[in-house]
Amino acid sequence: MASLSPAQAIAAVTAALAQLPPAESIPESDRLQLLGVMDQVRVAMEPPILTARNLCFAHYGLVGIRGRFPPDHRAVGGDGQGRKLRCVRSAIDGSSVGRILRLLAANHLVIQAADQTYQPLPLALGFTTGSPLAEVIKHFYTNMRASAFLDEYLASHEYRNPEDAWNAPFQWAYQTQEHHFAWLQTHPEDQHAFNVVMGLNRQLDGAQWFDVYPVEDKLRVSPHRVRLVDVGGGLGHDVARCKARFPDMPGKLVVEDLPAVIREIQTPLGEDVEAIACDMFAAQPVHGAKAYYLRTVLHDWPDQQALQVLGRIHEAMAEDSVLLVNENTLPEQAAPAGSVAVDILMMELYASLERTEKQWIDLLQRAHFTVVKVWRAESQGVGSHALYEAVPVGRAL
Ligand SMILES: C[S@@+](CC[C@H](N)C(=O)[O-])C[C@H]1O[C@@H](n2cnc3c(N)ncnc32)[C@H](O)[C@@H]1O
Repeated sequence: MASLSPAQAIAAVTAALAQLPPAESIPESDRLQLLGVMDQVRVAMEPPILTARNLCFAHYGLVGIRGRFPPDHRAVGGDGQGRKLRCVRSAIDGSSVGRILRLLAANHLVIQAADQTYQPLPLALGFTTGSPLAEVIKHFYTNMRASAFLDEYLASHEYRNPEDAWNAPFQWAYQTQEHHFAWLQTHPEDQHAFNVVMGLNRQLDGAQWFDVYPVEDKLRVSPHRVRLVDVGGGLGHDVARCKARFPDMPGKLVVEDLPAVIREIQTPLGEDVEAIACDMFAAQPVHGAKAYYLRTVLHDWPDQQALQVLGRIHEAMAEDSVLLVNENTLPEQAAPAGSVAVDILMMELYASLERTEKQWIDLLQRAHFTVVKVWRAESQGVGSHALYEAVPVGRAL
């Protein structure tokens, strides 16, 4: 095939983009594939100096939004519906707002309509104060301080893999001896942001665990029995989705988490769903449930603590109970960029890690479980995850 000249390639890509249907009408998996192709173009074309520049400036979009968009309602006039923002004060009279709005304009969130007037683009409306995406930004803005200390931390520990959950870059950055989860409990805004982020997690990951695991066959119980305990289940978003998917299945659902998290649950989770405040390192309050389920809970902990949590569940299981571990699972090769970033995030906040399938199976075996089957969704979205179905060693399913 004859190669295109740069001008022909630009014309061909521009023409193809002009013919694309509106993004909302394209299935998500196709959109992700298209973005992957665009990224290949970027990697192939970008001169290294531009790569360096993009990497160095990557966090400024996040800095601009900072979970408080618009940055200050009092300093930014509007039409009351968030449709039009007018920067009342400018950089000249000492306010920083004008400069932040200019940064947001360069990041395609607002457009400069007139001299001091900015109008939000559709994307910006998703990031307004209190919106879920604003909470995501806030959460990662807080985490950025731990990132800033990572290299200093590793150098001072001779680049050993961190394994002490109470001595990670997070503790250095925030000058605290508290574990990140204890620290969150005394920082309600960050705790709230964390909980919101967990609720959004996995939205880009293709199918849900209950689309893959035969829930109706495997977790059928009598009406009075607990069908599933979601250990470290956050605000109960996963349990609520499962309930909505199988509204008539008998049995109770339980979500367990730390008191500060359970207190945040505002809307009732539904009939037959109970929320219990507890510590997963202490004795499990629900004995004999059909399933004990953990989604992205163990990845927050190094092996030592993960084994303790699994031990508390093991003690509470009945003859026919099953353990379901829904976890990010790094492929041995070509791990997706987002997944390896989460691996480093785990290191920074918790001295923990994202594990490979081999590491998960090894961990579960050390906790005296036999992995019966590893369930995977065909579509993995932007991540890589699996559901580990396990039973206590010596028991058949
Ligand atoms: C990464 S989040 C995952 C939340 C939820 N399972 C999900 O996938 O969205 C980990 C959860 O573990 C909870 N957690 C941490 N330490 C805990 C403890 N000692 N006892 C109970 N829950 C705990 C956190 O509050 C948080 O909600």
